[in-house]
Amino acid sequence: MRIFGSSLTAVALLLASGSAAHAQARENDRVAIAVDTAKPGPKIDRNIFGQFAEHLGTGIYGGVWVGKDSPIPNVRGIRKDVVAALKAIKVPNVRWPGGCFADEYHWRHGIGPAKDRHNTINSNWGGAIEPNTFGTDEFFDFIGQIGSEAYVSVNIGSGTVEEAADWLAYMTADPKTTAGKERAANGHPAPYKVKYLGLGNESWGCGGSYSAGHYVELMRPFARFVRNYNPAQTGAETMQRIAVGPDGDKTEYTEAVMKAYKERNWAWGIEGLSLHSYTTNGWPPAYASENFDESAYAGLVKATLNMESLVSRHSAIMDKYDPEKKVPLVVDEWGVWLKPNAGSDPGFLQQQNSLRDAIVAALNINIFARHADRVRMTNIAQMINVLQAMILTDKDKMVLTPTYHVFDMYVPFQDATLVPLSFDAGTYSHGDVKLPRIDAIAARDSAGKLWMAVTNLDPNRPARVETAIAGESVRWARGRVLTAPRFDAVNSFTSPDTVSPKAFTGRVSGKNKVSLDIPAASIVVVQVGA
Ligand code: AHR
Repeated sequence: MRIFGSSLTAVALLLASGSAAHAQARENDRVAIAVDTAKPGPKIDRNIFGQFAEHLGTGIYGGVWVGKDSPIPNVRGIRKDVVAALKAIKVPNVRWPGGCFADEYHWRHGIGPAKDRHNTINSNWGGAIEPNTFGTDEFFDFIGQIGSEAYVSVNIGSGTVEEAADWLAYMTADPKTTAGKERAANGHPAPYKVKYLGLGNESWGCGGSYSAGHYVELMRPFARFVRNYNPAQTGAETMQRIAVGPDGDKTEYTEAVMKAYKERNWAWGIEGLSLHSYTTNGWPPAYASENFDESAYAGLVKATLNMESLVSRHSAIMDKYDPEKKVPLVVDEWGVWLKPNAGSDPGFLQQQNSLRDAIVAALNINIFARHADRVRMTNIAQMINVLQAMILTDKDKMVLTPTYHVFDMYVPFQDATLVPLSFDAGTYSHGDVKLPRIDAIAARDSAGKLWMAVTNLDPNRPARVETAIAGESVRWARGRVLTAPRFDAVNSFTSPDTVSPKAFTGRVSGKNKVSLDIPAASIVVVQVGA
């Protein structure tokens, strides 16, 4: 596959076979990458590294919230270990409270003293009792502790415009108003900052099963009347409203919402269109999250590369209605959805997280970065203990997953400027599956440092990546590599560092040539320095 910025073109590549071809095979391990620093691309918005935290299983209760009286170290009920880990990866925004949960969430059940909190049933997720002890004020405390922005989804499915408008007033109005006074009485006189507002969730599915046209009718009054009163939220800080968009490759919502956007009047607007797409192999998901073979490895990696065509397809439709790309495509649910852990409640969506999932994360981030002109925000599902999590917890224990380490290694790409690359990726084959063997992006951060991220998704062959960097003199290349002896390796509470980043150094030759020896099934992120 030849990859130029955002386009993929298939190139056939014959693989040498047999012992006589050994020298040839080594030659085939080489990949040449040309980096052209003279033609910078768009900014990679740091919001593409956003997280999603739903009231689902132990994603919130146990994962974030342990309560003030817990023996697990906490600040006002929020786990200290989780906060420290999330701060380190500079989470730009957290989407909350769902998911499907959001369209059945009634915010008043989760504010005020303990006696006012309602015990309700989490009907989407295992019928668990929802104690509402983690509500609006606890959410803002949490994102304040990790230094992140709020992405709050309002209930369009089973709620009213009035309920959502009252919630925004509670969160953002002046303490002299009744709503603001109530917030102040609950300990927070200053208005909260609600940077992103989700106008429903999956309204084509769990959020109401509405036709696209009906959703547009429902959504417009929410976009009009659910107001943000925080006086500090003007200019670049103005709240961004994100409408429900497509389910995977289906285009009805993309067409209907973007057409409505184009024909909008002064009274309403949206500043984002959501896309949901999980990497799985059908329903219910049958791939295991650990102890899997190469067919499951190759099959899942192949499935995830479909994100490229999804993003291209919906972006092309959005271009028809919004050629200036004012409305970002917000991929606010993505990640691997696998078979639940044996013995776990299937409604809790608990799965392990392997080196394969880390590779999936890197490939998706690369796709989002190459589409940075339209994809300006994404949220991996989900942050803790649910689906493709960053962090797993069990009571007082916590472990960082391989996917966490990818988000950590990619921090330099937050708000960096994409630098175009071109390369022949070669081919990784397994059975009928043929995939590009290498994927890579480069970017320059705001301090002027040049970074490269290279993924070798071939689990059997290392790759020698020879990079020529036009317009730059290079003296060193240093960073980190994430790999493990097996593609199904996981981190557990007893072996937390099986898949963890190690120091990595490239070789420099001449004025601007860098050679990187990338192990099989690995992700390398390096800074290339002068
Ligand atoms: O992330 C789990 C669920 O997947 C979300 O609640 C829903 O929006 C999606 O179907």
